[in-house]
Amino acid sequence: MVTQERPRVRGVEDWRPRPTLTGADYTSAVVYEEERERLFFRGWLCVGRSEEIAEPGTYLVRDVVGESVFVVRNRDGEPRAFYNVCAHRGTKLLDDEPACGHLGKALKCPYHSWSYDFDGHLLATPNVHEDEQFERDDYPLHAIAVGEYGGFLFVSLAEHPRPLGEWLRNSNETITDFERYRMAELRLGRRLTYDVAANWKIVVENYNECLHCPTIHPELVQVIPLFRKGEVWDGETADGGNLMIEGATSFTATGVSDLPRFPGLLDPDYGMYYGVFQFPNLMVNLHPDSVMAYLIYPNGPGRTTVVSEFYFRPEAIALPGFDPSPTVELWDLISRQDWTVCERAQLGVSSRSFRGVYPRKDRLLFDFNERWRQELGRPLVG
Ligand code: FES
Ligand SMILES: [Fe+2]
Repeated sequence: MVTQERPRVRGVEDWRPRPTLTGADYTSAVVYEEERERLFFRGWLCVGRSEEIAEPGTYLVRDVVGESVFVVRNRDGEPRAFYNVCAHRGTKLLDDEPACGHLGKALKCPYHSWSYDFDGHLLATPNVHEDEQFERDDYPLHAIAVGEYGGFLFVSLAEHPRPLGEWLRNSNETITDFERYRMAELRLGRRLTYDVAANWKIVVENYNECLHCPTIHPELVQVIPLFRKGEVWDGETADGGNLMIEGATSFTATGVSDLPRFPGLLDPDYGMYYGVFQFPNLMVNLHPDSVMAYLIYPNGPGRTTVVSEFYFRPEAIALPGFDPSPTVELWDLISRQDWTVCERAQLGVSSRSFRGVYPRKDRLLFDFNERWRQELGRPLVG
């Protein structure tokens, strides 16, 4: 791990242009393989919400850059995570669809019916008896690390993962700065899934700059005027928040909504938008009455699945006539506008001529690239 300091990106005026990643970094199968091994299989990744596995025996299945894993709630109420691979002869245990469900009394392999409890212990091996010198205790499922923060579930495929809290805080922006939104209490109200024909880093980079906003997002710049100037961060506000247009209290086309506002925020939060990129695959958008998260699943060098989830207070969801559509529709519009330009960028970076540049308002992208280089063990550009 390279320990060189990354340059400051907040409050920077004396920026000099920096190079982007290379075309190969966005397109090559070799680089993608390097990312899998050095970044995704060593760090932590967000894979969903705790509420999806609320009860003992409930599970979710995810494809983590080509490795199928599942998370299950055990009988003590703790999440446990495993490779989705039978300890007998490797059969895939759970299907990708449905992506969540209940295991019943135990998890049974569809091939020879070996079964496992929710801690991965081998319970039963039909026709293979313990007196055959076969110790079931010696063949548990292959466990992986799992942790929860703010209602999000994270897994790490590392053998000795860094502590989750430390990992989360070692991000230029971190959801740990937003305890006051009490995200663990929020519940899923809507989910949209997009298949984007672009490298995952192009999706992340697009999220972290607003030079494209005046051109691509005419509706968004109506709600957040600062974005017209191509800036993603208002130096005048705390925590990098962006003021919504005068009088707006919700992230909708009209700036208002019927949803009750979150309790216990700071006064300025009620007119503010915060966008947080939690390295490497979670982006959280905080609004006064809702939260929208993008979960990014790289799917090869040129494809990314983006899951957009909308969370609300449980009491808001319980209200008769609960209608999240004004927020969902605005975000869906913005998302589609973004994916269109991400896909177009992917086409261009594939050219052998490509050499890109980051001006000052792209400085968060450069920082993301430096962190990426750190994780991959490459020298920093500085
Ligand atoms: S491969 Fe799973 S029980 Fe045989
Ligand atoms: Fe955008």
